[in-house]
Amino acid sequence: MRSYFLKILYALLLLFHELGFGLGFKGSMRSADAKCREKEKQALLNFKQSLIDDYGILSTWSDHQNNTDCCNWKGIQCNHQTGYVHLLDLRCLDKQYLRGAINLFSLIHLQYIQHLDLSNNDFLLNHIPQAIGSFTNLKYLNLSFSEFSGRIPFKLGNLSLLRCLDLGRNYLRGPVPFQIGNLRQLQYLDLGGNYLSGEIPFQLRNLKRLQYLNLAGSSLSGAIPFQNGNLPNLQTLRLSGDFDTEAEDSEWLSNLHSLTRLELSSWHNLSFSRQWLQTISERIPNLIDLRLFGCSLSDNNIKILFHSRSNFSTSLTVLDLSSNMLTSSTFQLLFNFSFHLQELYLTDNRIALSSFLYPNFPSLNILHLSMNNLTSSVFEGNFNFGSKLRELHLFNCSLTDQSFLISSASTINSSSSLAILDLSSNLLKSSIIFYWLLNITTYLQTLDLTSNMLEDPIPDGFGKVMNSLEGFYVSENRLHSVFLWKQVQIADLRSLK
Ligand SMILES: *[C@@H]1O[C@H](CO)[C@@H](O)[C@H](O)[C@H]1NC(C)=O
Ligand SMILES: *[C@@H]1O[C@H](CO)[C@@H](O)[C@H](O)[C@H]1NC(C)=O
Ligand SMILES: *[C@@H]1O[C@H](CO)[C@@H](O)[C@H](O)[C@H]1NC(C)=O
Ligand SMILES: *[C@@H]1O[C@H](CO)[C@@H](O)[C@H](O)[C@H]1NC(C)=O
Ligand SMILES: *[C@@H]1O[C@H](CO)[C@@H](O)[C@H](O)[C@H]1NC(C)=O
Ligand SMILES: *[C@@H]1O[C@H](CO)[C@@H](O)[C@H](O)[C@H]1NC(C)=O
Ligand SMILES: *[C@@H]1O[C@H](CO)[C@@H](O)[C@H](O)[C@H]1NC(C)=O
Ligand SMILES: *[C@@H]1O[C@H](CO)[C@@H](O)[C@H](O)[C@H]1NC(C)=O
Ligand SMILES: *[C@@H]1O[C@H](CO)[C@@H](O)[C@H](O)[C@H]1NC(C)=O
Ligand SMILES: *[C@@H]1O[C@H](CO)[C@@H](O)[C@H](O)[C@H]1NC(C)=O
Repeated sequence: MRSYFLKILYALLLLFHELGFGLGFKGSMRSADAKCREKEKQALLNFKQSLIDDYGILSTWSDHQNNTDCCNWKGIQCNHQTGYVHLLDLRCLDKQYLRGAINLFSLIHLQYIQHLDLSNNDFLLNHIPQAIGSFTNLKYLNLSFSEFSGRIPFKLGNLSLLRCLDLGRNYLRGPVPFQIGNLRQLQYLDLGGNYLSGEIPFQLRNLKRLQYLNLAGSSLSGAIPFQNGNLPNLQTLRLSGDFDTEAEDSEWLSNLHSLTRLELSSWHNLSFSRQWLQTISERIPNLIDLRLFGCSLSDNNIKILFHSRSNFSTSLTVLDLSSNMLTSSTFQLLFNFSFHLQELYLTDNRIALSSFLYPNFPSLNILHLSMNNLTSSVFEGNFNFGSKLRELHLFNCSLTDQSFLISSASTINSSSSLAILDLSSNLLKSSIIFYWLLNITTYLQTLDLTSNMLEDPIPDGFGKVMNSLEGFYVSENRLHSVFLWKQVQIADLRSLK
């Protein structure tokens, strides 16, 4: 009985002690926050030593007397109670970045780090060390756009708490390590824009929580390892490579009920698989962004995708069919499925617009038709791709002055929304293009006429009327003088050569 009483007393004392401590901690506000750990501070200083900091990004990282608490250094957050570093964010913005032979190994002392973002820096083609596998508390790891090379370390598979892994846009080679399939918490996996090869490891089937998967930009091959029911939460899927197209594999795709963005690029076999094309067309009802570039697709393939029962017309806002074998007939077909289309990419196909084809895409913002051999008189009298068109790219389309003649009979429909026009690498000679632009545009901001054969002078009034123009590119022509915008000066191009 006595010992029971003592036990309760002891418990009560403990409780009060805890409460008191808690209140005291809170009452003293931030000044009582734990300071950074000496060992971690040294680790950070060692890490800094491996980097070249041209822009003073790490200027607060120094051990001077009034700056000893590394929790206050730029890019660092500590746990208030323990003082351990839990976040290191050195993502660089704009044109200011860190460079050097990164010494990730020195960060190994940051035992409790959960969030590591070193994206957008220049680590001079250094490798990502296997030691990355020691950061076992990491939930977020972003090393994208940072000039890493070498292989993807398989020890990443030990970071079992990871929710987001972004290694995109580097120079990584070799296979996708199968150990990535261990990362059961992963929601976001971006390995896109690298030089990976080999097959997609089947272990990735285990990533049940994955919402975003990007394996595009590399050339992977082999079978699509996913089966019906795998990756059920996927919203974005981007793959590129020469995969096999087994009909039954498309079944998996049709069960991705949350899928809204799909890229399957450089996949030549796709053009042979009616099954896959039909699945994309009919069984993914909420697709808003579809990119099938470099897949050797023909007009007949596109007819399978866009047929009368297809629901694309209501959902699709972005369509990229660049680098296929499509002709004007596809372009024409697309008018009927274009009500919500905002971005259309048809670069590098075989489209030849005729003057009888008056495309009108009511919602289109961006149109890329570069590297098609558009025939002459394309815009004769009619320039009516859509009243919302902001960007038009017609690089290397064999356009001549004739393409821009406006016959007196036709009605001119001005395109006042057009802001960016790329007409570089065509065959334009005379100043007719400038008169055409005066007639047809109102707020042009960027005009690229690089690498044509322009020889007539630019009309005097052009610069004054086009006062919204910010970028004007006319090098590689035969012009003798050009207006320099805003400054109203004549520059002699010959002296620049
Ligand atoms: C220390 O504090 C002084 C005065 O506030 C300041 O001038 C100096 O730049 C600080 N030094 C460092 C390294 O922050
Ligand atoms: C990773 O960093 C890049 C560049 O800073 C950024 O664009 C990207 O959105 C980040 N990824 C994630 C998943 O946050
Ligand atoms: C890392 O993961 C491997 C399996 O991929 C396992 O054998 C090893 O014990 C793990 N290491 C640590 C330190 O957890
Ligand atoms: C896919 O392409 C590869 C390489 O081009 C080829 O070997 C394979 O037979 C193709 N598979 C199918 C199912 O078309
Ligand atoms: C198109 O969408 C409607 C309504 O969202 C749906 O009832 C119909 O089944 C869809 N058609 C196809 C071919 O998926
Ligand atoms: C587009 O739709 C119109 C009317 O609905 C139809 O007459 C025409 O054949 C269609 N064009 C194509 C290329 O499908
Ligand atoms: C474009 O087409 C025209 C007429 O069909 C042809 O004369 C010309 O050689 C073609 N240009 C290119 C670059 O293919
Ligand atoms: C323009 O396109 C043709 C093929 O249509 C290609 O041969 C040529 O290299 C391209 N020119 C430029 C400057 O890209
Ligand atoms: C010009 O636009 C008007 C109204 O937007 C339209 O009615 C007319 O058909 C267009 N003309 C041509 C030649 O496209
Ligand atoms: C510009 O518009 C005027 C008046 O509508 C017309 O006479 C002229 O031919 C047009 N010029 C060009 C190059 O379109």
